[in-house]
Amino acid sequence: MAIIMLVTTLLSMALLCEEATAAAYVRPPARPNLMLFAGGKKSIQPDQVHVSLAGPNRMRVSWMTSSMTAPSTVHYGTTSQQYTAIASGVKKSYSYFLYKSGQMHHVVVGPLLDNTTYYYMCGGSGREFKFTTPPPAGPDVPIKFAVVGDLGQTGWTKSTLEHIENSNYNVLLLAGDLSYADYYQPLWDSFGKLVTPYASAKPWMVTLGNHDIEGIPYIVDPFRAYNTRWQMPYSESGSVSNQFYSFETAGVHVLMLASYADFDEDSSQYKWLQADLARVDRSRTPWLIAVLHAPWYNSNAAHQLNGDRMMAAMESLLYEARVDMVFAGHVHAYERMTRVYSMKRDPCGIIHITIGDGGNREGLAQSFLDEQPEWSMYREASFGHGELDMVNATHARWTWHRNDDDEAVVADDIWITSLSAPESQCSVSSSTKRGVSNRRVLRPLGT
Ligand SMILES: *[C@@H]1O[C@H](CO)[C@@H](O)[C@H](O)[C@H]1NC(C)=O
Ligand SMILES: *[C@@H]1O[C@H](CO)[C@@H](O)[C@H](O)[C@H]1NC(C)=O
Ligand SMILES: [Fe+2]
Repeated sequence: MAIIMLVTTLLSMALLCEEATAAAYVRPPARPNLMLFAGGKKSIQPDQVHVSLAGPNRMRVSWMTSSMTAPSTVHYGTTSQQYTAIASGVKKSYSYFLYKSGQMHHVVVGPLLDNTTYYYMCGGSGREFKFTTPPPAGPDVPIKFAVVGDLGQTGWTKSTLEHIENSNYNVLLLAGDLSYADYYQPLWDSFGKLVTPYASAKPWMVTLGNHDIEGIPYIVDPFRAYNTRWQMPYSESGSVSNQFYSFETAGVHVLMLASYADFDEDSSQYKWLQADLARVDRSRTPWLIAVLHAPWYNSNAAHQLNGDRMMAAMESLLYEARVDMVFAGHVHAYERMTRVYSMKRDPCGIIHITIGDGGNREGLAQSFLDEQPEWSMYREASFGHGELDMVNATHARWTWHRNDDDEAVVADDIWITSLSAPESQCSVSSSTKRGVSNRRVLRPLGT
């Protein structure tokens, strides 16, 4: 056990090296990890329950049991304790050195009614949970996202989650760096427990961050814990990876991109993204947004240029598709950009937002570059979360809520007009119709 602790400590030190060298500034007090450990007995009781969208009118229910024999079934219905349907799925487990995970069950339920609360029971026994499905599909249907990044499992995480809960959101978007287990696998279990009250009740859609990789060359494949525990929908347009996918809800098409999978022109992620964008119909989903981990626009002193290679490979693709907003994490601070493309303000560009201030144990990235770039509108190093309220087909309200001690305070508040709105004059349909060939002007890499 001591050896395992030593190895994981050394590994985390190696992993965090990059951050330590970037950290020539003083971080305000981080709060320590909250460790919520499981009881030791082999149990069929569901634990670490979370739900995610799994296609039109489908939800995936995921949970952990310590017992190997617990069934992968979900009983569900719209009335408490009266289950009218049952679905079954799969279970998975993994080992990581001496650590052996429990059984992670993934069951897709549906078809479900829109905007409806379902009561459900995992594995045929144990306590009842409930989730609420998002509003129906439709270009003008309002929907509210909670947006968070670099969550971790500290006292700050807890206050962020409590504030998010009060926002009455429909779907949560998580821009990578979930548990900050950093190779110490029991912290994934602890994270699963911490988020259960929230993630069992509303769909959580996640993408991966650098702390979720946990690969060790020649010994452990990357994303072993992440892939087992946080299975996300495979894209209908052909993604064969758990690392990147898209989904549609209400009037929004959401791209979940992977900063830590290949993204160059001949990569499967790039080809999938091209195909996925070609299927976007702005009369069906007037809003087009993306979530990834390492920001492309960033005037914080931390992680400068970490997202640069991906930006060089993919920015023009997203720009020409008239993506409205890109959310990133990684930098532990809040920053909002104006519409920007190729490092210049551009009325048809993308609004980039860094929201890596969820509550991780490393603390805040306190120092910003002295000169605020012309595209940076608002920047502040405090813990918090964002809310994206799609009011109708053309207007959305974005607010950033700062955790002032344990209170949530609205610190940044703007209205956004979609690029698909007639008044934006950014010719969405012509850019979507134009083929996907010969439309990329790449900045050279590494210069
Ligand atoms: C969803 O249901 C709530 C009440 O349960 C209602 O107030 C709201 O308008 C509904 N939203 C949509 C988009 O139907
Ligand atoms: C959409 O919402 C905005 C903000 O509330 C409002 O000004 C605008 O008139 C709405 N558009 C339509 C078509 O209702
Ligand atoms: Fe990160």
